[in-house]
Amino acid sequence: MPYRLIAFDAYGTLFDVYAISALAERLFPNQGKALSVLWRDKQLEYSRLISLADQNPSGSKYYQSFWDVTIAALHYSCKQLGLNLSADCEAELLGQYAKLSPFPESKEVLQGTHASGLKTCILSNGNMQMLSWAIEHCKFGNYLDTVISVDEARQFKITPASYQLVLNHFPISKQEVLFVSCNAWDIIGANWFGFDTFWVNRYQLPFEEIGLAPTYQGNDLNDLRRLLQA
Ligand code: LAC
Repeated sequence: MPYRLIAFDAYGTLFDVYAISALAERLFPNQGKALSVLWRDKQLEYSRLISLADQNPSGSKYYQSFWDVTIAALHYSCKQLGLNLSADCEAELLGQYAKLSPFPESKEVLQGTHASGLKTCILSNGNMQMLSWAIEHCKFGNYLDTVISVDEARQFKITPASYQLVLNHFPISKQEVLFVSCNAWDIIGANWFGFDTFWVNRYQLPFEEIGLAPTYQGNDLNDLRRLLQA
């Protein structure tokens, strides 16, 4: 394997964004799944609108932090679904979003990858504050060399400026980076940027019909570990 750095996406890849659906279901019976799915979709849609509208490499003039985008997306989703989001419900949902559960194998795979001598980092749309909350909650800190937020570029993935941040932090070539994400759109972006990619196809989805196929894929992060050990 030519890789020296394994760069992980965060939300949906190490942290389970749909774990929020159980709380959402308790707060809004029969709407928990719909809310968690729409919330995530809107969050991503807003991030793309912001980056598409102004691709200045020094940042989009429409930039706002991913946490603020996440709150805006929650407000919209509740409005669309006709849910009354009280201040208490909002605080509970955001409180849990700040401390999302990891996937069962996330920690062990990060630990093993780091212990094997490879460098590890996160590259996420999340701003540093929300990433710190989640990383601390999941106790991932010791297994990451660096945590990179697109906040530095004020551009969300999949802009080239966002993936470039990885190379700004590590003086290595593109070919030495393996980018890992559960999000197919993120795999496409990373591939277009020039990274090799590992798609965690956790939900057994077909790959997208545009872009390059991922370099590798597996069902969960354990498959990444097997690949790196091979
Ligand atoms: C991340 C989200 C968008 O960048 O998956 O962590």
